[in-house]
Amino acid sequence: MEAQAINPHFSTTLNSINPNFLAKIFPRSPTRVSCKSPNLSFVPQFGTSLKKGVSLRSSCFVKAKMGCDGGDELGEGVGRKKLAVFVSGGGSNFRSIHEAILDGRINGDIAVLVASKAECGGANYARKKGIPVIVFPKTKSGSEGLSPHDLANALRKCKVDNILLAGYLKLIPAELIRAYPKSILNIHPSLLPSFGGKDYYGMKVHRAVIASGVRYSGPTIHFVDEHYDTGRILAQRVVPVLPTDTAEELAARVLQEEHQVYVEIAAALCEERIIWREDGVPLIRSKDDPDKYS
Ligand code: GRF
Repeated sequence: MEAQAINPHFSTTLNSINPNFLAKIFPRSPTRVSCKSPNLSFVPQFGTSLKKGVSLRSSCFVKAKMGCDGGDELGEGVGRKKLAVFVSGGGSNFRSIHEAILDGRINGDIAVLVASKAECGGANYARKKGIPVIVFPKTKSGSEGLSPHDLANALRKCKVDNILLAGYLKLIPAELIRAYPKSILNIHPSLLPSFGGKDYYGMKVHRAVIASGVRYSGPTIHFVDEHYDTGRILAQRVVPVLPTDTAEELAARVLQEEHQVYVEIAAALCEERIIWREDGVPLIRSKDDPDKYS
């Protein structure tokens, strides 16, 4: 069955049902979702209809546990979400998300900025904008920074629904991942699973991309698990890698896409438009057409 053929009522109803209950009614085996995508472009763009590329048999979508309480399927009537953004550097993604919030493009607010360095560009920008800053993890001297336990408590106190990592270089502790299941996103500047992992950060990523000879690169947004860059992929954008590119030129081209895609995804997250396919792949439901996913 094609995605377009899903009965909207059926889909709406599923989305408002407790996932545990759904698991009982739809046992794993007969409810497979299969992807046959001969006609799909290399990377589907946001909002692309899945009708040609994806066939859904006995479809069963389960709404993501995004930390808040319900709302309808397009995000209308959904309460504003509270976000925590984590940075280690300049924070240009953080700024573009903050600007989109001020413009009304994202149904949420940044409750707190978490920085691995108290004096980084992102932290300084947050202070100027009146956004509280937490330093995490503890500095080597121990004079600043919270423990994982205290961080989780602080985020709970701020009533944070979702966490967006935006250039945060430290590994997220398991305690925080357990406290925020399916609620933490990261942006990485390559097309994962290529050029990801502990040693791939900053210009190293772009140098490796150029050296490999691949012709395309671009940002990936993924859910965060206990390892670097291995969580479920939610969105990707593609840019060309040109024959004369330096790492800096490629980084700038990728970063431009990052600013757009992270805002779009943060908007979808805050409107509760992230849907989990039965096999564990997260999809984004289009705002304009609830039968379209990307
Ligand atoms: C971005 O390239 C992002 O993909 C990576 O770190 C960089 C952060 O840039 N995770 P900025 O601090 O948002 O400018």
